[in-house]
Amino acid sequence: MTFWITGKGGMLGQDLCALAKQDFKIFESDREVDITNENSVMDYIHANKPDIIINCAAYTAVDNAETQTELNHKINAFGPEVLGKCAAKVGIGVVHISTDYVLSGKAPTPLKEDAPINPINAYGSAKAKGEYLLANSNPLHWIIRTAWLFGIKGKNFVNSMLNLMRTKEQISVVNDQFGNPTWTCDLAAAVLKIAENPKNPGIYNFTNEGIASWHEFAVEIQKQALEKKLLTKAIPVLPISSSEWKSAAKRPLWSALDKTKIKENFNVQVPLWQNSLSKYLALET
Ligand SMILES: NC(=O)c1ccc[n+]([C@@H]2O[C@H](COP(=O)([O-])OP(=O)(O)OC[C@H]3O[C@@H](n4cnc5c(N)ncnc54)[C@H](OP(=O)(O)O)[C@@H]3O)[C@@H](O)[C@H]2O)c1
Repeated sequence: MTFWITGKGGMLGQDLCALAKQDFKIFESDREVDITNENSVMDYIHANKPDIIINCAAYTAVDNAETQTELNHKINAFGPEVLGKCAAKVGIGVVHISTDYVLSGKAPTPLKEDAPINPINAYGSAKAKGEYLLANSNPLHWIIRTAWLFGIKGKNFVNSMLNLMRTKEQISVVNDQFGNPTWTCDLAAAVLKIAENPKNPGIYNFTNEGIASWHEFAVEIQKQALEKKLLTKAIPVLPISSSEWKSAAKRPLWSALDKTKIKENFNVQVPLWQNSLSKYLALET
């Protein structure tokens, strides 16, 4: 199998390319092949003849998306459609990464793939449109919804917390938004399971197992980082509500995802987020 992985310079893209190279022939690209440019995408496909496209390219600045509406829409909605259309012309499929932010549910039930689409911010709306346009442009699509990513080569919540915990006397973290923290390496392994044996197209959820609030996530980060001596002292991590945290984009209060479908169809391993966080932090030591 030969894969074309887009977004190779991103947080997920870097870990996915590194893992994929161990077993597969891959072509990797970033901005130099603009996924919103049909000619560039078609030329790349003709030149490299991949068996499947894995799209990790995206616009991921959730707060900026509220004002950069055109760019957000172009990359997150139109981009997947261009990839889908071009891939369909040569009879290949697209594995595309989407987000829990296309949903906004209610506790305590994790959301399945057929939960009603309900984005509450501009990024989620554009990603939801991207899912729809891709699905309509190419029957061979695997849309993987994921959430709360942390990866060694990206700006993410774990690194932000560690930086704050090293420099502040105390921090406040939102305790009424719940989701699934997810390590990019676990997601990369799940993506490859689908790409190497693409069957049963459709939408699939993949995150790590276990649900947390951002506050619980931060408390666990501090606990593990102290154990691993990445931090020298504990600071108070104060719980606050979403209404006390000012941000441009609203976030869902509940977007935990049910992973039954991907487990049953692709026999994917879903490690607990605390265990994956431990492996991730071990890379930092
Ligand atoms: N991060 C999360 O917590 C999270 C949560 C849920 C879902 N996701 C989804 O997971 C996927 C990977 O996220 P990530 O955090 O790894 O993203 P990321 O670090 O922002 O990487 C995205 C990559 O795509 C590139 N890119 C942007 N526009 C492009 C275009 N028009 N053509 C080609 N490449 C382009 C970016 O280049 P530049 O750096 O130059 O912009 C960047 O290298 C995305 O689909 C995202 O929506 C992420």
